Amino acid sequence: MAKIKITEVVLRDAHQSLIATRMPISDMTPMLADLDKVGFYSLECWGGATFDACLRFLDEDPWERLRAIRKACPNTKLQMLFRGQNMLGYRHYADDVVDYFVKKTIDNGIDIMRIFDALNDIRNLETSIRAAKKYGGHVQAAISYTTGPVFDIKYYTNYAKRLESTGADSICIKDMAGLLTPYGTYELVKALREAVKIPLQLHTHYTSGLASMCLMKGIEAGVDVIDTAMSPLALGTSHAPTESMVAALQGTKWDTGLDLTLLSKIRDYVDTLREKYIASGRLNPKVMSVDSKTLLYQVPGGMLSNLVSQLTEAGQLDRLTDVLNEVPRVRADAGFPPLVTPTSQIVGTQAVLNIISGQRYKMCTNEFKGLVKGTYGRTPVEIDPEFRRRIIGDDQPITCRPADLIQPELERLRGEAAEYIEQEEDVLSYAQFDKVATKFFERRRDKALGIDSAHADMTAKIHPV
Ligand code: CO
Repeated sequence: MAKIKITEVVLRDAHQSLIATRMPISDMTPMLADLDKVGFYSLECWGGATFDACLRFLDEDPWERLRAIRKACPNTKLQMLFRGQNMLGYRHYADDVVDYFVKKTIDNGIDIMRIFDALNDIRNLETSIRAAKKYGGHVQAAISYTTGPVFDIKYYTNYAKRLESTGADSICIKDMAGLLTPYGTYELVKALREAVKIPLQLHTHYTSGLASMCLMKGIEAGVDVIDTAMSPLALGTSHAPTESMVAALQGTKWDTGLDLTLLSKIRDYVDTLREKYIASGRLNPKVMSVDSKTLLYQVPGGMLSNLVSQLTEAGQLDRLTDVLNEVPRVRADAGFPPLVTPTSQIVGTQAVLNIISGQRYKMCTNEFKGLVKGTYGRTPVEIDPEFRRRIIGDDQPITCRPADLIQPELERLRGEAAEYIEQEEDVLSYAQFDKVATKFFERRRDKALGIDSAHADMTAKIHPV
């Protein structure tokens, strides 16, 4: 057994899970040089909801953020989370846009692309995996882990083998909801270790209080890399604490070799961020504690903080338990999708609507209709045709790879965004977040002209995960 490697997630998933992705680059800059010195396998620092949060809430160019981190961390691999055909947006994009996004991502400094599909529909990963290989990136294909009918060891080993056969360089078990149990992890990792030859990485959230134990059993069963977060932004809906895992493995055959003194220096800084986020109310103590309900409701960290936000803003936080009970029912109706962006938002919002409107499916979002129709791909379990008809009426369900129905769109997008484009990457920001992106571009232009325009929209109702 080789020593265990660590991906530090404080720059992405930790704050996405705890504070709805609101850590600005200015809070990151003071720790980047030290993070680069630690010797982490990689720094997860981009993708997921960071792109949306930069444009929508933080008034930051996400590309500029990536370049700043790349410059400050020349010695460590940079890693991102990528939603396959959805990129970092919430719909499927044409293949030409996906290819161009992957190219620009690697050009701007990402080394490892963790690519997943919310439905584990491999057809939704093909284009981005092919592109990442073409442009020299490390492809880490991720399995969206969930539980329910059909999700047994065989399901996961079959999927892992198919991922390996696409040319993926490594495989991640992505347990976004913190559903893994220690002995379940052991069995799963052992089976995957036998099924594929490429390295395995384990990503699990602390929500249900089991993450450290799962990582440990995963290590015993043969994972190569684990995801952890600096301790002040660990635990709760975030991850196992980096320093604790380093200490736990010290002196064993899995010793990470990382320096606890240096980690402790970074810890002191991250602790000032934690204090600041608590003081501003951004960090809600509700998401910091163990929530064993996760094991029942299958709600990922970011989704739980979103549901709390949505209900707080609707003045109905007292309905949280009802909504959490409704989530698994909606999920069953929709063919048991794993709950991860975008399906977590789609199912979560539908569950909120079902509860606050007082009648199930009286109102349906277009996204929920799309999920039921097949717009996002094939659901793990087939949807009851009667339920489908109730939601989409006489609309024909989609059975092909959804992106096959999308015409090339890069040139059209370039035309639409022409007046705003200051760098080649801007068209990709526009592709994913059209109106949000153009507002950002307008503020950027005003700033360059010395005009103090309205601030980024800090009050928007829907929080990205
Ligand atoms: Co995560």
